[in-house]
Amino acid sequence: MNKNIEKLLNEQIEKEYSSSQLYLSMASWSENQGFNGTASFLYKHSDEEREHMLKLVKFINERGGVAVIPAIYKPDVSFDSMEKIFKALLEHEMLVTESINNIVDACLKEKDYSTHNFIQWYVSEQLEEEALARHILDKLRLIGNDKGGLYLFDRDMENASISADTINNVQ
Ligand code: FEO
Repeated sequence: MNKNIEKLLNEQIEKEYSSSQLYLSMASWSENQGFNGTASFLYKHSDEEREHMLKLVKFINERGGVAVIPAIYKPDVSFDSMEKIFKALLEHEMLVTESINNIVDACLKEKDYSTHNFIQWYVSEQLEEEALARHILDKLRLIGNDKGGLYLFDRDMENASISADTINNVQ
């Protein structure tokens, strides 16, 4: 496969893997704070990011390239508040979106239309993930330090997942 595209996809493997590690650490912190619904959401989100990484590994290898498995990234262990978690999550996803958009650009420049087609799935996924993170963050800003509000928020997060439907599930 095209060497430049292979390099960009391998860098994307690292970013998806870092996302998985970051959300795993956020899940663990939430669990220790007693936010079990949010922890459950973030554990699932972490697993999904690993799936995003695996999809790239398989695609590169199937196309005759060599997928490179990155070193383990060690995220922060403490996040201060739910609002800080989702602010960090949104910022992280915005960086991932930028990176995906760069791959789209490179595919067009290199005339690699099959990778362009493959990467469209990530373009859609990023739209959903950013919209969801913004929605959650808006809710948390409204709740502020209200303990009752945070309790209800955490309960709703138990059933949330990363899909277009989720936006309706987080009330
Ligand atoms: Fe796979 Fe959230 O980026």
